[in-house]
Amino acid sequence: MKITVLNGSPRKQNTSFMVDAFVAGAEEAGHTVEVIQVGKMKIGGCLGCEYCHGKGEGQCIQKDDMEKVYPAFADCDMIVFASPIYYFGMTAQIAAAIQRVYALMKWPKATKAALLLSSMSPNVYDGAIATYKGILGFTGIEDVGVFTAKDPENSTDELKQTIYDFAKGL
Ligand SMILES: Cc1cc2nc3c(=O)[nH]c(=O)nc-3n(C[C@H](O)[C@H](O)[C@H](O)COP(=O)(O)O)c2cc1C
Repeated sequence: MKITVLNGSPRKQNTSFMVDAFVAGAEEAGHTVEVIQVGKMKIGGCLGCEYCHGKGEGQCIQKDDMEKVYPAFADCDMIVFASPIYYFGMTAQIAAAIQRVYALMKWPKATKAALLLSSMSPNVYDGAIATYKGILGFTGIEDVGVFTAKDPENSTDELKQTIYDFAKGL
């Protein structure tokens, strides 16, 4: 299976720890994984101009790092959203990437999805999970796992093993 991971963190710490465990397990199982560091990219918010659905024929009028995201996003069997919690939601960078998918005429052919969230506090995941579940309901993509971890559990061997085992079992 071809898996695309969107990592919404702008730095390589807690979320990336979860992503790395996922990648190790998925690759061990023989899957091909591409991690896209959307958190470090320059991705503008959707302008709502509808150019993509008219003259643009599926192309966004904005030319930025999203051009690196579209191909991997459009051509995968599974999509993984990974993000730190920023004010009760995913980061602005990954939110922008998700919303810019609006330009594609149809959503990716992916049939499975997972969500990895890292935070400082407990009980802060409802907003991000609601967004994720809403997208899956809209697209028909199946949720196969949601993993949340707050500090300091978000960098433990136990969490690493849990995510590794999950990915290896895909
Ligand atoms: C701008 C900003 C907003 C944040 N908002 C929250 C929040 O609402 N709730 C929370 O528990 N942690 C919040 N955090 C903490 C991060 O979610 C937490 O440190 C996370 O593990 C960072 O992941 P990273 O190491 O991948 O960047 C915030 C951090 C930043 C920088």
